[in-house]
Order: sequence, then structure tokens, then C-alpha cells
Amino acid sequence: MALFGKMLKEEESVFKDPIALDYDYMPKLIKGRGEEQRKIALAIKPLDQNRTGGNLVLFGDSGVGKTVICKHMLRIVEEEADDILPIYVNCWKKNTSYKIFVDVCEQLGYRLTHNKKTDELFEVIKRLVNKKSVVFVFDEIDKSEDLGFLYSILEEIYRKSILMITNEAGWHSGLDQRIKSRLMAGMVEFNYYNSKETEDILNYRKDYAFVEGAWDEKSFSKIISKTVKLEDVRSGLYIMREAGNNAENRSSKKIEMVDVDEAIKRLDDFNIKSIDSLEPELKLVLKIVKGNEKCKIGELYDKYKVAGGDKTYKTFQRSIKKLSDNKFISTKTFVGGTGGSTTLVDYSKDKSKPLTKMKKLSDF
Ligand SMILES: Nc1ncnc2c1ncn2[C@@H]1O[C@H](COP(=O)(O)OP(=O)(O)OP(=O)(O)O)[C@@H](O)[C@H]1O
Ligand SMILES: [Mg+2]
Repeated sequence: MALFGKMLKEEESVFKDPIALDYDYMPKLIKGRGEEQRKIALAIKPLDQNRTGGNLVLFGDSGVGKTVICKHMLRIVEEEADDILPIYVNCWKKNTSYKIFVDVCEQLGYRLTHNKKTDELFEVIKRLVNKKSVVFVFDEIDKSEDLGFLYSILEEIYRKSILMITNEAGWHSGLDQRIKSRLMAGMVEFNYYNSKETEDILNYRKDYAFVEGAWDEKSFSKIISKTVKLEDVRSGLYIMREAGNNAENRSSKKIEMVDVDEAIKRLDDFNIKSIDSLEPELKLVLKIVKGNEKCKIGELYDKYKVAGGDKTYKTFQRSIKKLSDNKFISTKTFVGGTGGSTTLVDYSKDKSKPLTKMKKLSDF
């Protein structure tokens, strides 16, 4: 077809199996994260002896492997333990107790969910699950609008392990005391991958996704260093796919530096455009954060007022949360001490950090 001009024919493609570059592709082999896997295994282990398991909050920044590690652990449970049910729910997609219970019912093979109320759905879940043990993974749990589902599970499911994934280190500190005291969760932090780990992960995906010899070594190394800098494996996968497309568009069977550079530029441009699209109030807050590294939120508010900001402290806190959810900035909450909890706010280390999970601001 003329529209596609000189592009490569299928048998000449640099791609072998591009699905391996999808963000939610489940690699057969997990690279590293041995310690995190061990902590999860220890929490689940009692279920295998008919006792209840431990609960964990797994936290860390975007693209550090939280989801893939938990899904991998569920895969092991599914393969190795007949009496333990593996359940995975993404609470960004299913963001109410009702939707979560419908999802859980369906995963348990119960499909008559329509016209049932939240309580009735939970009765079904209880009946099905309490015959066995269960590992729940609630991914993006901070995105759920309510936590009624968590309370119900804590109260009425006997043998369970609950794994809660979040980007927010301090998420659990804001929980209702009734949930907190029943949950007693351990904390597992996912730190950024180092250069060697990043290389292992991306190399593995490269071998699945691209035909042999498609990559020029130097170009691929550039992707690894950019990914390490961005501290997000997902951005590496994005650059690999884009670079592959760029090579194909110029009818080359080899992916070279020019293709990688163009892909990196697109990633950086996307982020800059995203900043431009922020509403003026958020731009002002971002400017204040940018000019004051690792500052406490209260101190930042004072500087914001001096700079002409006229919103209340509560609104300011909401703006910080929006910017943090969208990865423009990062926040860390420390609990304890005489002053209760403190939030430290910092500008993202690399302003070209991709917004791979950008939400529309109207979603808030
Ligand atoms: N240890 C690993 N081994 C193999 N692949 C990995 C590993 N860690 C991350 N990945 C891959 O990197 C990508 C991002 O990982 P993942 O989706 O688990 O990140 P995340 O921490 O859940 O991020 P977010 O908070 O944005 O949801 C995925 O495509 C995943 O397959
Ligand atoms: Mg995830």
C-alpha cells in the first residue's frame, strides 16, 4: 500500500514479538527482587499450614516492579498450592468496594453478580473463600474511593494474606484506626533498580521482542543509562519500542543511535507538554517546590503565600497531592515524633521523567 511507502515488510521487521514490550507483559523469568519475594513468601507461608497469613504494604515509585513481583508470587501460588486462592485487583480500575467485590466474585468463577448489593456480593465471597485460604493483592490501593472492602475482609475472611501496593510511602498512616489495628501490616520498600539490574531486565525483554542482531550495542546501552536515570523500567520499554518503530520507518533492519535519540526526545517532549498543560494554580505550586528542594509541606506553604498564593492550606495540600500523583514531584511522609506526621516534598529528580500513568486532572 502506497500509504506505508518504503516501510519494511513483515519478514524484515526488527520486531520478533513486540508484545514482550507491553507494560503488563508477564516475563517468565523475574530478575532480582529476591529479598522482596522472600518477604512476600514469608507472609503467605502460614496459609499453607492452614493458619492465617501476614499482611504487607508494598511501596515504591513507578516502574520499580511492585506489580510484576506480586503477580509473579500469585503465579507461584496458583501453580504450587491448590488450597490457596490467588486474587489480584487493580483498585485504580475497580475503585469502590462494590466494584472490587464484583471483580473478586468473577475471579472466583461466580458470575451472577448483577442486581446484587455490596453486602450480598461479600456474602458470596465469604462462602467461596472461607473453605480455603486466599492471597489478595490490591494494587494501587490508595486509588480506591473507600476501604469498606478491606474492613470486611479483615473481619470475616479467616485465612488470608493481604498485599497492598501503593506509590505512597505514608499511605497507611492515614488509615482509620479500626482498619489499622486489624491490619498490622509489614512494610516492604521497592527501591530503584541499579544499572546492572536495569540492564538485565531490559536485555531479557529485548531478546523476546526483537530479532537477533537488530540492535547496535551502543544504542542499546544508551537506553539502559537513560532508564537508570529516569528510575523507571517502563520508560526503557517505551524507548525500545519507539526506537524500533523509528528504525522501521526509515527502512533499516538495524536500530541505531539516531532512532534511540529520536525516541528519547519524544519522551522528553511529552513531559514538557504535560507541564504546559497544568492549570496556573498547579504551575505556581510546582514552581515553589522546584525552587525549594526537600522542604516540609508547611514551609512550602509559607513560601507559596509569600509568592502570592491565596489558597487555603488544605487546597495547597490537595495541589501537592495532584502533582505527586502525576509524578511531577515526589513526597515522603514520616510518621511519629512530637509533631505527628511530616511530609517532605521534592521536585522529581529528572524533569523528563515520563508520565506513564498520567491521569486527567479532571479525574481528581
Ligand atoms: N524484576 C523484574 N523482572 C522483570 N521485569 C520487571 C522487573 N521489574 C520490573 N519489570 C518490568 O518493568 C515494568 C514496570 O514494572 P511494574 O509494572 O511492576 O512497576 P510498578 O512498580 O508496579 O509501577 P507503578 O507504581 O507505576 O504501577 C513492567 O513491564 C515489568 O514487567
Ligand atoms: Mg504497578
